[in-house]
Amino acid sequence: MTFPLPPNATIGLVGGGQLGRMSALAAARLGYRCHILTREQDSPASQVSAATTISDYHAPDGLREFAAAVDVISFEFENVSAEGLDLLASLKPVRPSPTILRISQDRVLEKTFLNGAGIPTTPWAPVQDLDGLHVAVERIGLPAVLKTTRLGYDGKGQVLLRRAADVRDAFAVLSPKPLILEGFVDFSHEISVVAARGEDRSYASFDTVENRHRDHILDVTLAPARIAEAVDAQAQAIARRVADALDLVGLLAVEMFVDPGGKVLVNEIAPRPHNSGHWTIDACPASQFELHIRAIAGLPLPPAVRHSDAAMKNLVGPDETALWPEILATPGLIPHLYGKVEARPGRKMGHVTRLFPKGALPGEFGIAAALGPAAPQSLGQRPSD
Ligand SMILES: Nc1ncnc2c1ncn2[C@@H]1O[C@H](COP(=O)(O)OP(=O)(O)O)[C@@H](O)[C@H]1O
Ligand SMILES: [Mg+2]
Repeated sequence: MTFPLPPNATIGLVGGGQLGRMSALAAARLGYRCHILTREQDSPASQVSAATTISDYHAPDGLREFAAAVDVISFEFENVSAEGLDLLASLKPVRPSPTILRISQDRVLEKTFLNGAGIPTTPWAPVQDLDGLHVAVERIGLPAVLKTTRLGYDGKGQVLLRRAADVRDAFAVLSPKPLILEGFVDFSHEISVVAARGEDRSYASFDTVENRHRDHILDVTLAPARIAEAVDAQAQAIARRVADALDLVGLLAVEMFVDPGGKVLVNEIAPRPHNSGHWTIDACPASQFELHIRAIAGLPLPPAVRHSDAAMKNLVGPDETALWPEILATPGLIPHLYGKVEARPGRKMGHVTRLFPKGALPGEFGIAAALGPAAPQSLGQRPSD
């Protein structure tokens, strides 16, 4: 099979979660079939895809069966082993490349790559053992965040160190080792940029957005971010530099902090569609998922423009999922549900988007009012707004 993939070609997606589900929906609209590799029966992505291979991500037989059935391989889940990636890449084109995946799987490789490309991050140090951690704390200072280098998500695998007394327990608690110590960033905003790059090196990036977390899980995304132009320009330039330096073919998200001085620091990168890009489904002619599919299929990239401003709210766990009937009954809320059967605490079950005319994203109060039953308590508490 050659690129661009013709209609009815099969796109292989590793991972069965909501990112795969929304990628598969975008692929279907472009006339492609998706084949999902997942460990799970009845995964959110499988429910809307043509076929599924149920296998462990490290099992050579499962990976071979999956690769044999598809024309190109991409990801919604990043933690495939190095050997698994090599096997897949020996069988079919893998986009983004295994090199990019490996960098993003490991916070030390990631920060080494970023700093090597001239991209600023918070100060950091690799940590192998407790003695090394004491040395790193001495150099970086407190507060600091101690993280596993691999397998972290939604704030899992990290501990905030406030005092020297926290160091020993934090080291003991975190696994797998090795770890990384990062200087705590007292950020004014968390922002992100989702960007796509084609095999012809064409490039498109969505507007910079602002992200609010609750319990370390993304809660709300506001598009566009309400930041100074100079900050926005840094964020967009960084995303471009990351995509070019990685020679990306595919889509990636760059998570960033705006430090108190207005300097943009990269937190982490994710070479796949990202939760902070879900608003693009409803507010853009071509969403992050369409750009993901187009980039890996070798199709032309459309501009990543938005026709509306947007607020996106995740529906996490049983409490927020229980709001579903009210959400459905609220005009203007655009509902998305991922097909997960069990609403465990902390589990992302769906999201809602509210659109606003371009340039008319309201202040905190207005957003809280517009999200109606889905409005989080963190919004709408600033009467000065
Ligand atoms: N060095 C840091 N300084 C301040 N806050 C941080 C730092 N690292 C992480 N955080 C907070 O924790 C959240 C999750 O951390 P992150 O490194 O993005 O891991 P993951 O998204 O893989 O769980 C970030 O979005 C941010 O809110
Ligand atoms: Mg993150």
